[in-house]
Amino acid sequence: MNYNYIAPYYDLLSRICFLNRQQIAHKIILKYLKANDKILWLGGGSGWFLEEINELNILVEIDYVELSTVMINKAKTRNHSNLKVNFYKEDIFKFETNQNYNIVITAFIFDHFSASDCEVLFTKFNPNLIIEGKWFCVEFNENQNLIQRFLTKSMVVFFNLIAGIKTKDFPKIDHLFNDFNLIEEKQYFWNYIQSKVYKK
Ligand SMILES: C[S@@+](CC[C@H](N)C(=O)[O-])C[C@H]1O[C@@H](n2cnc3c(N)ncnc32)[C@H](O)[C@@H]1O
Repeated sequence: MNYNYIAPYYDLLSRICFLNRQQIAHKIILKYLKANDKILWLGGGSGWFLEEINELNILVEIDYVELSTVMINKAKTRNHSNLKVNFYKEDIFKFETNQNYNIVITAFIFDHFSASDCEVLFTKFNPNLIIEGKWFCVEFNENQNLIQRFLTKSMVVFFNLIAGIKTKDFPKIDHLFNDFNLIEEKQYFWNYIQSKVYKK
């Protein structure tokens, strides 16, 4: 997988295609963050949301894991002066950590992988999330109407070509969180995008 080619345009494209709803969908996490939180952020992309967290002006520590050089270099230029951010240019499947986290963030990342790889990913990092910790997950709804199915198929073909993604559909992931409590959920873009805050 390689986001380097699309990286310069990704944020703009996503803002235009989804009328900024992918970005707005991130915001519900902000009120759950508190000083001294330790956050694991998987596939953070260009880091635009770092600046929103920075504006909270609370000191949180973030392990930011991103595979694309162009994306992570962009993220490093974001204003994160109030935060402690550790940038890791790594494949999340290979990233090793023995840290305990209060928060895990996955936003539009599970949809790159097969259902079995999503399970591997979830099982890999779930032990690092403390009891009562929160997993913040923003993804496309797994229940889609016909138009949304068409959009999904089109996006999958686009990202197959542009970023070398191997999957042919979005995986179903809601069941991964069966043992968590869903404490907040919001839907956007005619229920196509959903933001969920799960508590362990
Ligand atoms: C669709 S973008 C979403 C970016 C960001 N989370 C957002 O919502 O704006 C997916 C990001 O995940 C990264 N990514 C994909 N596979 C990855 C992997 N195996 N390890 C680390 N990052 C990965 C891509 O490089 C890309 O930046």
